[in-house]
Amino acid sequence: MNHPQPGADALLCYCRAGFEPELAAELTERAAIAGVPGYARTERGSGHVEFLTEEAHELTRALSFSRLVFARQKLVRLADLPDLDPADRITPILEALSAQPLPKPFGALWVEHPDSDEGKPLAGLARSFQNALRPALRKAGWLTAQDNAHRPRLHVLLIAGNHLMVAMANPADSSPWPLGIPRLRMHPSAPSRSALKLEEALLTLLTEDERTQQLRDNMQAADLGAAPGGWSWVLMRNGMKVTSVDNGPLQQELLDSGRIDHLRADGFSWQPKRRLDWMVCDMVEQPRRVAERMATWMREGWCRQTIFNLKLPMKKRWDETRLCLELFEQQAERPMTVRAKQLYHDREEITVYAAPAE
Ligand SMILES: C[S@@+](CC[C@H](N)C(=O)[O-])C[C@H]1O[C@@H](n2cnc3c(N)ncnc32)[C@H](O)[C@@H]1O
Repeated sequence: MNHPQPGADALLCYCRAGFEPELAAELTERAAIAGVPGYARTERGSGHVEFLTEEAHELTRALSFSRLVFARQKLVRLADLPDLDPADRITPILEALSAQPLPKPFGALWVEHPDSDEGKPLAGLARSFQNALRPALRKAGWLTAQDNAHRPRLHVLLIAGNHLMVAMANPADSSPWPLGIPRLRMHPSAPSRSALKLEEALLTLLTEDERTQQLRDNMQAADLGAAPGGWSWVLMRNGMKVTSVDNGPLQQELLDSGRIDHLRADGFSWQPKRRLDWMVCDMVEQPRRVAERMATWMREGWCRQTIFNLKLPMKKRWDETRLCLELFEQQAERPMTVRAKQLYHDREEITVYAAPAE
């Protein structure tokens, strides 16, 4: 057996369980484009992918988190510690940290578990181990006394009771939520759980400045494939007036609000009379067909910006994702800012934000 040398040995990314092959394919392709040698290793259903490389720090700088579609979190792995003695997991962590040059101290500690069938039962252990590890790290000078978001963050990923990985993240280039999962609550008056998807998209795909600038009272929006109205409801709560296009029924309270126009029409042929601030689209359709229609909207200037979902096929989902994003950018016929992610609230789909590049 090869004994790994101390030091960063992999990019470690979390993903939706079942989407490891997509994330592995994405990392492999992006690493090749960045000219960083290595290979992806994963297990289906594990909720994480390792991309093994001797240039993990270089690779994490080359692949910004916001550009990764299938990664919920992006870390540099510092050590893989299998076969631990559950009676003392702390000493091997301290030894692994001391064995390599690292920025000392870290600004925060997150002990996590994969969001997978095998990982979820480790949630209690992760909490108690975090409470035990934190004072030990502080005593050894590895952790600031108070959380400091300007310093690298230390992650410990529990794979099993006797196996963990130690990793680090740049807070400015990683998910700000433990496990990469935003904690959003379903509002009692939201017409559907889909509302959480658009809320998460606005939180994840837009910067704080963009949210302030682009989510304002009395903006005009269209929602294609709107029924029963979750996305329209989110836009309305952000002060917008919405044309909701769908042959299906909308929730009555939405219609009563006076801020929503329900149009029973085909979302693939309807176009607005005047330029809109926003168009969002959650139509369940072939992703290429949706990508092409979204490109038409941008090319014709029917809206300033858009958020849309692409429902993924069962197979070759990374290939289809890349193809649809390329198709969209080509057919928009102008330089675009495009950010795409498989959000926590997305299932077999990804969500895309796009606007003309400044
Ligand atoms: C996933 S649901 C949308 C859920 C909605 N975003 C929400 O938050 O409640 C998909 C919707 O797309 C609509 N749809 C599918 N094809 C359409 C088309 N060609 N034109 C308009 N609506 C369409 C369906 O009627 C369905 O209501």
